[in-house]
Amino acid sequence: MDPITLTQQFHSHFNAKPEAIVRAPGRVNLIGEHTDYNDGFVLPVAIDRGVWIALRARQDGMVRIFSLDLEAESAFELASLVRDGDWIEYPKGIANELIKAGYKLKGFDAVMTGDVPRGAGLSSSAAVELAIARAFSVVSGFEWNAPVMARIAQKAENEWVGVNCGIMDQMASAACKEGFALFLDCRSLEIQHAPLPKGVAVVILDTSTRRGLVDSAYNERRNQCEEAARWFGVKALRDVSVPDLKKWKAGSGLSEIAFRRARHIVTENERVLEAIHVMKTGNLKRLGELFNASHDSLRDDFEVTNDALNIVVECARAESTCYGARMTGAGFGGCAVALVAEEKAGEFVQSVSTSYRKRSGLEASIYVCKASEGASIIQG
Ligand code: GLA
Repeated sequence: MDPITLTQQFHSHFNAKPEAIVRAPGRVNLIGEHTDYNDGFVLPVAIDRGVWIALRARQDGMVRIFSLDLEAESAFELASLVRDGDWIEYPKGIANELIKAGYKLKGFDAVMTGDVPRGAGLSSSAAVELAIARAFSVVSGFEWNAPVMARIAQKAENEWVGVNCGIMDQMASAACKEGFALFLDCRSLEIQHAPLPKGVAVVILDTSTRRGLVDSAYNERRNQCEEAARWFGVKALRDVSVPDLKKWKAGSGLSEIAFRRARHIVTENERVLEAIHVMKTGNLKRLGELFNASHDSLRDDFEVTNDALNIVVECARAESTCYGARMTGAGFGGCAVALVAEEKAGEFVQSVSTSYRKRSGLEASIYVCKASEGASIIQG
């Protein structure tokens, strides 16, 4: 969305000029899947799709938001926040957490729009949350602290919206830098901006199948990981090493399923650490192999892929220009991500669109992703 159109939309809705426009991106995770809630490592990139909000402060403690995409307006009062199950729950949840954390909030009028597909594993909800947090920081005049805001947004999603997600999506949307991936230690919340390797395109392959995150399957995986951590006698699976996995035997009090979940997490953490290393040395071949191993582990041990994801990944890997491909995000549908020789990315997109259509009967939407900037003020 360009600022001029958004300004016009604001004007036609509120009959005034917006004071500012803010934007927060969705993300694609390069590697490190389901590791965040196990205190592990992740490597997301903010994408060039996001949520834009044009806004103007109000002095009466009201927040009024017109969603261009839903063509609907909703409003709430900061002094009396109640849940009513509408799309406005994300903004309300952010307001609630900010107030709980001691921020003095002002209300605002806003027009909001976004282009992150929902339920596709690209964090459309984190983009809304961080854009709203950014809007509150503009009108209320508090300083923007990306990790603190990411935590606030995660709490809002856990407690107000009721989705038990980890910290990755909010941190990526809050703290990424244009042109860089974000290496995040989900225990210490320490971040490093890692430059993307040269000569490679990050390609997003949307299978056009969708999942709901509130799905019990996500929480079930979390519980299985926690059960495995208790069995290993550690705080989180982050503290288990690959050799430790040998301690497990059938009949030893931890089910085979929970053990396989743990094996995914433990080996995935190793893969992220190696990925960071080979990104620095420019070893694209090895980076691709790590992508492939990650997908296979998510498919066989963690069991969060679906047929469409497995097919699109196979189609991608069949191309000689592809270094590696894997599902990305929570899974159960949505998107995969592939590393492709940059100068051949256009042909790759064409070819995989055709082979995926043939094999699945579905239309994929495939595009080269640009690593964009985390939540920011783009005007005002
Ligand atoms: C969703 C959650 C994240 C993370 C991923 C899986 O995107 O919101 O916290 O757990 O799934 O890696």
